[in-house]
Amino acid sequence: MDYEAILKDIKPTVDEKQHIDDVSFRIMNFLQKMCDAQGIDAHVNLVGSVAKNTALKGKSDIDIFIAFPLDTDKKYLKETGLKLAHSCCSEFDVEAEHHFASHPYVTTHIEGCEVDIVPCYAIEDGSQLKSAVDRTILHTRYVKDKLSDGQDEEVLLLKRFMAMTGTYGSEFKVGGFAGYLCELLIIKYGNFENTLDAAINWKFGEIIDLEDYGTANLFNDPLVVIDPTDKNRNVGAALRLDKMAEFIQSARNYINSDNKQDYFYPLQLNLNKENILKEFKLRNSDLIAFRFSIPEMPLDTLHPQLRKTCEALERKLNSEEFNVFKADYWSDEVDDCVILLEMSSSKLNNIKVNIGPKVFINQACENFVKKYGRENCYIKDDFLVHTEKREFNNAVDLISYIFTQEHIGLIKVGKNLKKNLINTHEFIGIDEIDLKFLDDFLNPGKYIVR
Ligand code: UTP
Ligand code: MN
Repeated sequence: MDYEAILKDIKPTVDEKQHIDDVSFRIMNFLQKMCDAQGIDAHVNLVGSVAKNTALKGKSDIDIFIAFPLDTDKKYLKETGLKLAHSCCSEFDVEAEHHFASHPYVTTHIEGCEVDIVPCYAIEDGSQLKSAVDRTILHTRYVKDKLSDGQDEEVLLLKRFMAMTGTYGSEFKVGGFAGYLCELLIIKYGNFENTLDAAINWKFGEIIDLEDYGTANLFNDPLVVIDPTDKNRNVGAALRLDKMAEFIQSARNYINSDNKQDYFYPLQLNLNKENILKEFKLRNSDLIAFRFSIPEMPLDTLHPQLRKTCEALERKLNSEEFNVFKADYWSDEVDDCVILLEMSSSKLNNIKVNIGPKVFINQACENFVKKYGRENCYIKDDFLVHTEKREFNNAVDLISYIFTQEHIGLIKVGKNLKKNLINTHEFIGIDEIDLKFLDDFLNPGKYIVR
């Protein structure tokens, strides 16, 4: 494989790098000067992929962490961190956007770069951790120390491969591999190809323990990568099982592919509405789609709640003997969400079997008979059962019933979505749905193979 040609496309150009370094330097310089001038005991650090030289071209977000001594009051740290970030935004004449991790931080855009300014505690060891972001400075130090010359390029190849096959990014929307996790994989396996060669033999519960801490038994996650800077932390904790599986299979596909270079470029999607709708028609499924509006909330809260809602609805429909073939959600992350349910059957007959106790439990059987009448009960296998009228023989009716103030408790929906689900849901045709989402729904495997 000619990785040089790919690196040319994915590595920041000399000009881009110079620009990012220049912007980072000026921001850091400003912040450190502010601290020194105002007697704020804090040290400004460049962290993240820019500091580690592992940022992909055009994607360099500058992560700047302001580290306060361990004995700093938490309230003072938050307020001072925000105040410093705001002065920085004024200095560069840009808008500040607030975010909340374990404590608030500011994101902004300065001269074409996305910039995160985050206050944290200066720790020397994972055990001293006071907020979740405190490890980041240690991560940066560890990776800079362990990543040898040339391995930064191997990280780029791995990140890009994952990005193009849909498994990169630890944000909840993706549930994939974090940048730091990619770096640890390269430190472990040496280079991009060795990482894929190893991944195809990974097992559930695979352990990577670079510093031999021996703490892997603390975790039950599918991939356990003990954080070299904190033996009580699994860097793979945010990786969803399905994303780990997709990576393993995409590695197999890559190894056996004659078009390896294609794995480093976006899949060309030819989205034709007519064809997509035709394909759905050929599947002959009953399609149920509804839209509802979403409240303003952080994306890392929104996505898990949408996922949970979708799964709960699927479970409920299946438990009522409807047959959900596939369910998924789409959101523009600002106003709207759509849930699409592809049903093998969305209509049922009018009767159902109400299963009672096992025939061997005398008292329970007597109670059952008392309730339904002796003449109405009969035996199925070794259960006492009774045939009754089904309350809902149409899945749409059941969904409408659930999405009401009185009955929303029947399923576990995301708690910030409850009100909107009840008040704003409306059933729609699939011709109103985002085409890329529909195409992904029909062809879930397309990203992991070229
Ligand atoms: P980023 O998400 O910006 O990652 O988090 P990154 O390493 O800079 O990679 P890209 O190129 O932007 O995608 C910044 C730092 O926060 C810590 C890591 O130390 C990371 O380097 N972090 C972030 C985690 O430890 N875990 C996460 O899930 C996310
Ligand atoms: Mn980053």
